[in-house]
Amino acid sequence: MPIAMITGATSGFGRAAARRFAADGWSLILTGRRTERLEALKKELGSKMEVLILPLDVRDAEAVARAVEELPDAFREVTCLVNNAGLALAPEPSQEVDLKDWHTMIDTNVTGLVNVTHAMLPLMIATGRGASIINIGSVAGRWPYPGGHVYGATKAFVEQFGYNLRCDLKGTGVRVTDISPGMAETEFTLVRTKGDQAASDAFYRGTTPLQAEDIAEQIVYVATLPVHININRLEIMPVCQTWSPPHFERE
Ligand SMILES: NC(=O)c1ccc[n+]([C@@H]2O[C@H](COP(=O)([O-])OP(=O)(O)OC[C@H]3O[C@@H](n4cnc5c(N)ncnc54)[C@H](OP(=O)(O)O)[C@@H]3O)[C@@H](O)[C@H]2O)c1
Repeated sequence: MPIAMITGATSGFGRAAARRFAADGWSLILTGRRTERLEALKKELGSKMEVLILPLDVRDAEAVARAVEELPDAFREVTCLVNNAGLALAPEPSQEVDLKDWHTMIDTNVTGLVNVTHAMLPLMIATGRGASIINIGSVAGRWPYPGGHVYGATKAFVEQFGYNLRCDLKGTGVRVTDISPGMAETEFTLVRTKGDQAASDAFYRGTTPLQAEDIAEQIVYVATLPVHININRLEIMPVCQTWSPPHFERE
C-alpha cells in the first residue's frame, strides 16, 4: 500500500487528510507536536493500516533530519508528502504586532516546510514516478488583506518554492502541488487568536466555511491522479468568500 507522510496531523486539514488516506488504505506517517493527539489518531486508524507517529516540531531542522534518517525500512517508500503544518498569528496590523509572532510564522510556515522537504527529497526521488509533494499554501499568499502581513508572505513563499522545486525535480517523476485554501473552519483561528474561542466562533458565524474534510478530499485527489499529471496550484474558497475592490483613502 502507498505511504503518505503528513505534517501537522493533530488537527484540521492534516488530521482529516490522515483519515481520508486511511479510508483508501494508505499507510501513514503522522507528525505534529501534540503526542497525545497523534497517539489517539494511531489508535483510531492503526487497526486498519500501518501508522507510524513521529512527535516533531518542524522548526527543529536537526530533529526533522534525524526522524527521516531513522524511518524504518517499511516506511521509507513515501508516495505523498503533505507539508501541512503551519499557522497564522497576530491578526492585528503590522505596526502593532509582537515581532516574536512574525518569527514564529516564518519559522513554521517557511523554515519548517523547507526543513521537512529537504530531509524528504531523497526519499521522494527514490519513490519517483507518481510521488507527490503537496504543500498547503493559502489564498493569503496571493490576496492581501489587513492583518495578513507575514502570514500572507509565508504562503507566497510556499507557492513560489513549489514552482521552483518542480523545475529542479524535472525528470524524477516527483510532482509538486500548492493547494491554497480560503476560509476553513479548523483550529486555525483559535491558534491565531491565541485560544480565544469566542473570537474564533465570531469569525465563522453566519458563513459556510470550508471544512477540513473538503481539503482532505482535494489532497487525496491530487495525490492519486494519473502519474503524468501535475496540478501546479489548486485554489479553493467557500462560495461565501470573494474579493474586495481596491481601497482608496480619500481626503
Ligand atoms: N484554516 C484555514 O482557514 C486555512 C486556510 C488556508 C491555509 N491554511 C493552512 O493550512 C494548514 C493547516 O492548518 P489548519 O487550518 O488545519 O489549522 P490547525 O487545525 O490549527 O492545524 C495546524 C496543524 O499544524 C501543526 N503545527 C503547527 N505548528 C507546528 C510545528 N511547529 N511543528 C509541527 N507541527 C505544527 C499543528 O500540530 P501541533 O500543534 O500538534 O504541533 C496542527 O496539526 C496550515 O499551513 C495553514 O496555514 C489554513
